[in-house]
Amino acid sequence: MSILKNLSETTDYLRSQTDIKPQVGITLGSGLASFVDEIEVDVTIPYKDIPHFSPPTVQGHPGSLIFGHVGGKPIVALQGRIHFYEGHSMRDVVFPTRVLGLLGIETFILTNAAGGLADGIQPGCFMIIQDQINMTGTSPLLGPNLDELGPRFPDMSEVYDKNYRKILKSVMNDLSVDYYEGNYLGVTGPAYETPAEIRYYKQIGAGAVGMSTVSEAIAAKHMGLKIAGISCVTNLGAGLSDEVLDHKDVTAVAKKVEKQFSELLTEFIARI
Ligand code: HPA
Repeated sequence: MSILKNLSETTDYLRSQTDIKPQVGITLGSGLASFVDEIEVDVTIPYKDIPHFSPPTVQGHPGSLIFGHVGGKPIVALQGRIHFYEGHSMRDVVFPTRVLGLLGIETFILTNAAGGLADGIQPGCFMIIQDQINMTGTSPLLGPNLDELGPRFPDMSEVYDKNYRKILKSVMNDLSVDYYEGNYLGVTGPAYETPAEIRYYKQIGAGAVGMSTVSEAIAAKHMGLKIAGISCVTNLGAGLSDEVLDHKDVTAVAKKVEKQFSELLTEFIARI
């Protein structure tokens, strides 16, 4: 199967670039890339140099893979992700996730910028992802199952590890960070939602909405990884405020809380 061949070519290439055997993998979402300042970097590899990696095209997503240590723990960070709305297939979207799984990570931390839906949620606060609702209308696991990676019908009853959620809460409390815990609802984008869609998503239990994460979490869970998820709430969902949504404002809010975000991520990694 060519996906498996591509995955093994990519992991072979990465192993030839570093001796680090990462324990933790992190995907850094829109505007949250400066967490890399917390990394004692061993090597930074631009996506364009990595076999079978698709370079991202979105503003705020530079696109490189960073190997290093945080608090002494070996980690690998995806600085920038690719999205389904850029025209990539779901298999390409989750390719980096699968590479990290094959490199041997046990913990996968997913971060993103998201619109807030929960009552009282405000731009600038964080949401610990409790569970997810996949509204992309597709799955990265469609097609023949890759038995080498995981089972045909993976259990999804606890995608976001309960213990990690507990640790995230204690980190946020200790750092006096404003947070919510709720369900992340993933859509394809690239258009922002309509107010009617936001009302519907809220009614079915979404705390935040965004254009990434759910497929990566499905692929990671398929491989048996333990997942933690944090949304940075950059705006209220369409129609919940008078604001018109603009990607520039989304990245600007993420930038404002970037330092706090880096601190809490570093502390979380120290405690797991
Ligand atoms: N909707 C979808 N994706 C987003 C949003 C939003 O309101 N904010 C940041 N990413």
